[in-house]
Amino acid sequence: MNRVHNFSAGPATLPLQVLEKAQKELVNFKNKGCSLLEMSHRSPEYTAINEQAGKHLKSILGADDDWEVLFLQGGASSQFMMVPHNFLNNSRTANYIDTGAWSEKAIKEAKLFGSVHTSYSGKEGNYSHIPTNDELTFAEHALYTHFTSNNTIFGTQFHTEPENGGAPLVCDASSDFLSRPLDLAKYGLIYAGAQKNLGPAGVTVVMVRKSFLEKQRPEAIPTILNYNTHVNKLFNTPPVFAVYMVNYVLEWIEEKGGLHAFVKINDKKANLLYGEIDSDEFYRGTVEKGSRSKMNVTFRLGDEDLEKIFLTEAAKHNLVALKGHRSVGGIRASIYNACKPESVEALVSFMKDFRAKKG
Ligand SMILES: Cc1ncc(COP(=O)(O)O)c(C=O)c1O
Repeated sequence: MNRVHNFSAGPATLPLQVLEKAQKELVNFKNKGCSLLEMSHRSPEYTAINEQAGKHLKSILGADDDWEVLFLQGGASSQFMMVPHNFLNNSRTANYIDTGAWSEKAIKEAKLFGSVHTSYSGKEGNYSHIPTNDELTFAEHALYTHFTSNNTIFGTQFHTEPENGGAPLVCDASSDFLSRPLDLAKYGLIYAGAQKNLGPAGVTVVMVRKSFLEKQRPEAIPTILNYNTHVNKLFNTPPVFAVYMVNYVLEWIEEKGGLHAFVKINDKKANLLYGEIDSDEFYRGTVEKGSRSKMNVTFRLGDEDLEKIFLTEAAKHNLVALKGHRSVGGIRASIYNACKPESVEALVSFMKDFRAKKG
């Protein structure tokens, strides 16, 4: 089978061993005579998967019993609304660090529920910079400080957690969740759409602290949007197949040595690619060097025509999904956990040849 080198930003490449396991079990799940897709979400088989996935996730991150793991629907985008809906009201404020299009969307929703203190905005600098702690400001008595750990479109990333201004961090970790260990003590809530680093589209992982949930706003919250509805029980039908796939991806992460192993592999892949970009002026990184993402590597060539040729030639070498986000153009190589080092090596080798021909 000829699998391409897939640099899609999401839904993104999945570990082949996970796909093959799912393929093998698809029609007849564990000899039950039907597929998991055809079984009740209350069946013992699915209940076990849901529980295992939660346990694997907590064990990978070293999360204690204060943490709850929820598998929700609606994408990371619905968390932009659900977070403020649970915690803000007319008399409450949250800090938001604006580092790109996804942060902007989160801020827009938060303003519907409470007051937003913008701790920093990178908009004027075209989001090419991740703020240092001394560039951040905070509101007094804020309920939480929200940040986007990795900016999928612009290709920037916080390399460590930002200061929180005395309020627990709430993080949209959609595009770098489980690419490295986290200092969980600083967080109240973390959410991530699964379709980049965790599994297929359809499930959004939310990790929330019970102690943070105690700070929910007193006003009513619609049942399905209330985090407490989902704590410790399945309220409604979860995206069973997506959770099943996530469970296998989590097992794969553990087998490979957990987050300490992935941080090394991801560093190596990113360094190789950025090294090639920096080797002369032919390729140009689009963001400040100190703010670069290890997940979404963005760069440009001399002009748009040359970029089109680059993409067409790359595809001929099985290097696909390298087109930058439609809002910014250019080239973007998404190199999440499941993107193999061989794929990055193949891309770098192609880039060298392309430069030799066109440079
Ligand atoms: C950082 C970030 N947040 C949020 C989203 C939106 O996710 P969803 O499509 O699951 O709503 C994306 C999608 O690319 C993203 O990269």
